[in-house]
Parts: sequence; C-alpha cells; structure tokens
Amino acid sequence: MSDGAIDGLEVTACERCPTLVECRSRIVNGTGPADADLLFVGEAPGQYEDEQGEPFVGRSGDVLDDGLRDAGLDRGDVRITNCVRCRPPDNRDPTDDELANCRGYLETEIDRIDPEVVVTLGKVPAEHLLERDVGVTNEAGDVVEAELGSERRRVLICVHPAATLYDPSQRDTFASTLERAAEFTDETSGQSRIGDF
Ligand code: URA
Repeated sequence: MSDGAIDGLEVTACERCPTLVECRSRIVNGTGPADADLLFVGEAPGQYEDEQGEPFVGRSGDVLDDGLRDAGLDRGDVRITNCVRCRPPDNRDPTDDELANCRGYLETEIDRIDPEVVVTLGKVPAEHLLERDVGVTNEAGDVVEAELGSERRRVLICVHPAATLYDPSQRDTFASTLERAAEFTDETSGQSRIGDF
C-alpha cells in the first residue's frame, strides 16, 4: 500500500478517491473477529455506516442481522466488510476506479481473515470479486471459486439484504443462502450456532 496505511485490518488514512474523500465523514473498516469463518462483503457504506463507522448498521444491517440470527448465526461471530470503505455521494454505486483503489485493502483483509467462505452481498461485490457478470437472483446460493488475494477461495453468492425490502420474493433466497453460509462455520473454532443452545 503506497498512500494508505493499513495497520492489520484497519485503513486509517487514504485519499485515493477525491470524490469519496469529499463525501465521507470517516473510513468504514470491516468489523468482526479476525479469525471468522465467514466474511461478508457488501458494496460501500451508506449514510448510517458513514455516521457510525461500521458496515451494515442501517436498514440493510437490520435485515442482515435478522437473517444471520434465523440461520443460527450471530453478527458478532462473522466478519463484515465492504468493497469500498468510503461512502459514495447519494449512495451511488462505486465506480470502477473506486473499486480498484480499494481492492488491495479488501484482498489484505481476505488474506488476514482467511475465511472458509467469502459471502458477497449483492451484485456489485459479486461482480467485483468474480470479475464477470453475475445474475445475482439466479446465482444466489451458488458457491464458486475465485482468485482473491494470494489464494483461490470459495465465494458464496447472496442477494443484497436490501433486495428483500424492495422485493419480498427475495426473502427465501436470502434466507436459504445464509443457511448455506452457516454450513461453513466450525463450531469447534468457537463460532457457535445459536440454534445449538
Ligand atoms: N449496503 C452495503 O453494501 N454496505 C453497507 O455497509 C451498508 C449497506
């Protein structure tokens, strides 16, 4: 990393994307244990994430938390991050340049966490990590492989939590994909499933 300091998993300073530097209140780093089995990757922080400095704390976060709980998982046991760590203006999608500028931070995080599976939340992270067009609704629940960071990794394609708010027919898809994600957790590593108690 030439112009951004990454101390372990935290990016503490970065000015690669002038528009995002202008828009953001802060850099929103990933949260969750550094040895998590599951790494969820969203698109970019929205207003609430930018205010609170944590990924998925707005309405999408509530949907994600509920979905995790229903799948027997706890938010505190999984790692959650975004493709881009600064809020884009008007919640627009990150540009290709912005995604590219943040890619090294994400790959470093993937390498450090070394998850059993990377779960992409929505179209932007799926296409960014798989480097191809993805029909998220059709492909949700599929586990595919991709070269990420220094290794080939399993990627589980999932719809974005917000999609279930706009289109209730996506709820079952979202729920069954999180069930699939839960199959990759290892109870012996301390990542317990709530349903086991
Ligand atoms: N949507 C995302 O993709 N990421 C967040 O952190 C919040 C909403």
